[in-house]
Amino acid sequence: MELSKKHFEACCSFFLVFFLQQVFSKTPTGLVVRGNDTGQQALLQFKAKITDDQLRVMESWNSSIHFCQWHGVTCGHKHQRVNKLKLQFLKLSGSLSPFIGNLSFLKELNLSGNSFYNQIPQEVGHLRRLEILDLTSNSISGEIPPNLSSCSKLTIVRMGSNQLTGEIPSFLGFLSNLKVLSFYNNSLRGSIPPSLGNLSSLEKLALSYNALDGIIPETLAQLTNLSSFLAAANAISGTVPVAMFNLSNIRFFDIGVNKIQGTLYTDLAITMPYVEFFSVRGNKLSGQIPVSISNASNLNVLQFNDNRLSGKVPSLEKLDKLSTLQLSVNRLGHGREGDLNFLCTLVNNTKLEFLYISDNNFGGVFPTCISNLSNTLLRLGIHQNKITGRIPDGIRNLINLEELFASENQLSGPIPFDIGRLQKLQNFFAHSNFLSGTIPHSIGNLTLLKKLGLDFNNLHGNIPLSLGNCQSLLGLSVSYNNLSGPIPPQLLGVSSMSIILDLSSNYLTGEIPVAVENLKNLGELYLSQNRLSGLLPENLGSCVSLEKLFLDGNFFEGPIRSSLSSLRGLEALDVSNNNLSGEIPEFLVRFGALRYLNLSFNNFEGVIPSGGVFKNGSATFVEGNSKLCGGIPELHLLRCNSKTSSSNSLRLKVAIIVVTLGVTLAFTCLLISWWFRKKKEQSATTCVDSSLLQLSYQSIVRATDGFSTQNLVGSGSFGSVYKGVLEASGAVLEQEAATASFSRMLV
Ligand SMILES: *[C@@H]1O[C@H](CO)[C@@H](O)[C@H](O)[C@H]1NC(C)=O
Ligand SMILES: *[C@@H]1O[C@H](CO)[C@@H](O)[C@H](O)[C@H]1NC(C)=O
Ligand SMILES: *[C@@H]1O[C@H](CO)[C@@H](O)[C@H](O)[C@H]1NC(C)=O
Ligand SMILES: *[C@@H]1O[C@H](CO)[C@@H](O)[C@H](O)[C@H]1NC(C)=O
Ligand SMILES: *[C@@H]1O[C@H](CO)[C@@H](O)[C@H](O)[C@H]1NC(C)=O
Ligand SMILES: *[C@@H]1O[C@H](CO)[C@@H](O)[C@H](O)[C@H]1NC(C)=O
Ligand SMILES: *[C@@H]1O[C@H](CO)[C@@H](O)[C@H](O)[C@H]1NC(C)=O
Ligand SMILES: *[C@@H]1O[C@H](CO)[C@@H](O)[C@H](O)[C@H]1NC(C)=O
Ligand SMILES: *[C@@H]1O[C@H](CO)[C@@H](O)[C@H](O)[C@H]1NC(C)=O
Ligand SMILES: *[C@@H]1O[C@H](CO)[C@@H](O)[C@H](O)[C@H]1NC(C)=O
Ligand SMILES: *[C@@H]1O[C@H](CO)[C@@H](O)[C@H](O)[C@H]1NC(C)=O
Ligand SMILES: *[C@@H]1O[C@H](CO)[C@@H](O)[C@H](O)[C@H]1NC(C)=O
Repeated sequence: MELSKKHFEACCSFFLVFFLQQVFSKTPTGLVVRGNDTGQQALLQFKAKITDDQLRVMESWNSSIHFCQWHGVTCGHKHQRVNKLKLQFLKLSGSLSPFIGNLSFLKELNLSGNSFYNQIPQEVGHLRRLEILDLTSNSISGEIPPNLSSCSKLTIVRMGSNQLTGEIPSFLGFLSNLKVLSFYNNSLRGSIPPSLGNLSSLEKLALSYNALDGIIPETLAQLTNLSSFLAAANAISGTVPVAMFNLSNIRFFDIGVNKIQGTLYTDLAITMPYVEFFSVRGNKLSGQIPVSISNASNLNVLQFNDNRLSGKVPSLEKLDKLSTLQLSVNRLGHGREGDLNFLCTLVNNTKLEFLYISDNNFGGVFPTCISNLSNTLLRLGIHQNKITGRIPDGIRNLINLEELFASENQLSGPIPFDIGRLQKLQNFFAHSNFLSGTIPHSIGNLTLLKKLGLDFNNLHGNIPLSLGNCQSLLGLSVSYNNLSGPIPPQLLGVSSMSIILDLSSNYLTGEIPVAVENLKNLGELYLSQNRLSGLLPENLGSCVSLEKLFLDGNFFEGPIRSSLSSLRGLEALDVSNNNLSGEIPEFLVRFGALRYLNLSFNNFEGVIPSGGVFKNGSATFVEGNSKLCGGIPELHLLRCNSKTSSSNSLRLKVAIIVVTLGVTLAFTCLLISWWFRKKKEQSATTCVDSSLLQLSYQSIVRATDGFSTQNLVGSGSFGSVYKGVLEASGAVLEQEAATASFSRMLV
């Protein structure tokens, strides 16, 4: 008994000592740990590198509980070893501790959606059991560590949206269990390693948004289980290996925005029965759209835009799940009737949301079947084609339409009255067509309308008062039409108008309504080339955001009001070709941004102010104001006779000069008028008429990008010569709207 008791005590103390040893020798914190503490050490080292923890999740990583219960930590059941570390979207910041390599039982590491930075430690190569590595959406830099090649169990590697550099290592081709490999949105260079073709289990390969070049390796066509191939927005060139189109499990195929060329032959079978997303946009592909696409009945997104594709668009009848069709910027169509037949094959589709066919060679009448398209349609872009006929009345059925781009076609007839039913319409562009009739007053129903561009048409009648109801308008442009009548004060009451109001080159009459004071946010106001008259309203000075103000080519009279001194942001002011009078206001000198001032052909008088814009002969235009004097020599004005000289001889000299000048002038005048009369007899058309090229300065300013130095071709004593491309205001507005509009990509 004695013995056994001693034995028992010895036994107990041995175990106690062993236990205490376990506790105290290995855990400096003195807490009770069951099992191996290397895990805890590694985790504490991991925590030590975390520099920012706004949500204070790491506070739970303390000695009061076992590390297997720490937030995000999961241990194996048998032995207390960390096999999962999942800390996603916790706003953690810091670098990754090399001690992570000591968690040798780790199977899953998910740190996605944090702000971890610096490199991936090489020690990650010690994690031989690692299957899932997800570091998506952090700020990790450096290269993909070569030591990762030791992690042969990896099935999922996701490192998208980091700042990884270097190349995609070819050893990844040896990680034969890989199913998902995602490096999208990094800064990886080099080419796609052909060895990836060895990954026979690979289902997803996401390489979009990097700086990859080279070609798509032929070996990738061996990846029969591949369902996502995403390599958009790189600099990949060459052709798509034909066998890639044989990958029958593909659901997402995106090689958009690269430098890929070659053809997608019509007879090329795209044997991808499950394909949902197919994008080759932004490449250099030529040839026709493969007819086989007609059978891809699971397609949801189809993007062929920005290539050099030509010919006929095949039937899309079976594509009843299609929601996005992007064919813009190609050479599709033959410029004739029948080109748009494919649109009518979409009438049974109930999912359509985005339909863009702009900037192609499509001709024929705007098909009325458009009214039978799904009312789920949000955006319709047919601009820059050769489409004729009317905008179909049935367009009213597309009740969810937010954007209608129809400009630069050959559309004629009126704007359908029922456009007012499209209550969700935000952007409507139909400039540069042959639209006639009036602007329907129903347009006032469109309370969400933001941008309206109808320039360069044959619209006549008044500007509808109802536009005043469009309280969301940011820009309105109806220049180069035959609109008449007054500017409705209601229109000027739309204080949301911030980008542009362009009513120029019409036949508008009357004064500028005092309501103009509401346009406090407006950046550009163009009223040029109309028949507006009266005084410039005092409260034009309330439009304090104005950068461009063009009032040229009207019958405005009276002075430039002193209230305009509040328009300090003006970059361009054109009041030329009016009947304005009085002195040129001194305050213009203080408009620091003013780069273009045109006061020509008015009745201004007195001394040109000095300083500011007036010091720049290529920015200031004052000709045709006979009572102006002074200024820099480039303005070619007479000197102001400040003090009359008492010297007789000088007076005599002046008299002689004046007489000589007078005689010469009279003689020249006679000669010129005789010459002109003779010329006129010869031919009535040779007479140089200022209306020959009816360019308002506004369009010139815009075409030359505000006379930017980039567009400066040369300058000399005659002034400066700029190059530029003329554009309608609507086009400028439209570009903004179009670039803001959809661009769907997969990552
Ligand atoms: C603890 O585990 C690590 C590996 O995870 C191993 O290297 C070490 O030898 C173990 N220590 C003890 C005391 O079991
Ligand atoms: C330790 O973690 C627990 C939760 O796991 C928490 O309630 C406690 O406040 C933490 N202690 C410290 C000192 O942060
Ligand atoms: C843990 O990792 C660190 C850094 O890689 C290393 O220095 C240390 O020896 C490792 N400790 C154990 C117990 O494996
Ligand atoms: C990692 O966590 C994120 C967020 O919870 C999750 O969406 C993602 O699927 C996880 N990664 C893996 C590979 O399971
Ligand atoms: C990384 O791999 C290289 C080459 O295999 C090896 O020499 C090095 O020790 C490894 N680094 C770590 C930290 O394991
Ligand atoms: C790409 O990554 C950056 C951070 O590196 C992130 O801000 C951006 O949203 C990511 N873009 C996409 C499309 O995921
Ligand atoms: C992997 O791919 C490369 C290049 O495609 C090839 O040379 C190599 O033999 C492949 N290795 C295996 C193990 O299949
Ligand atoms: C491909 O996918 C099928 C079905 O999921 C699966 O049975 C097969 O094992 C996969 N092939 C490889 C090589 O992983
Ligand atoms: C595509 O697959 C079909 C049938 O499996 C085969 O006959 C054809 O040769 C393949 N084409 C390419 C380019 O691999
Ligand atoms: C579509 O599929 C059917 C049935 O497989 C086939 O007969 C037809 O030729 C295909 N059409 C095109 C245009 O590829
Ligand atoms: C649309 O559906 C109707 C009724 O099922 C059918 O008669 C017609 O041919 C279909 N049209 C197209 C273009 O699919
Ligand atoms: C304005 O919109 C309503 C609602 O869609 C519609 O009933 C009405 O006919 C529209 N009015 C005009 C003038 O289009």
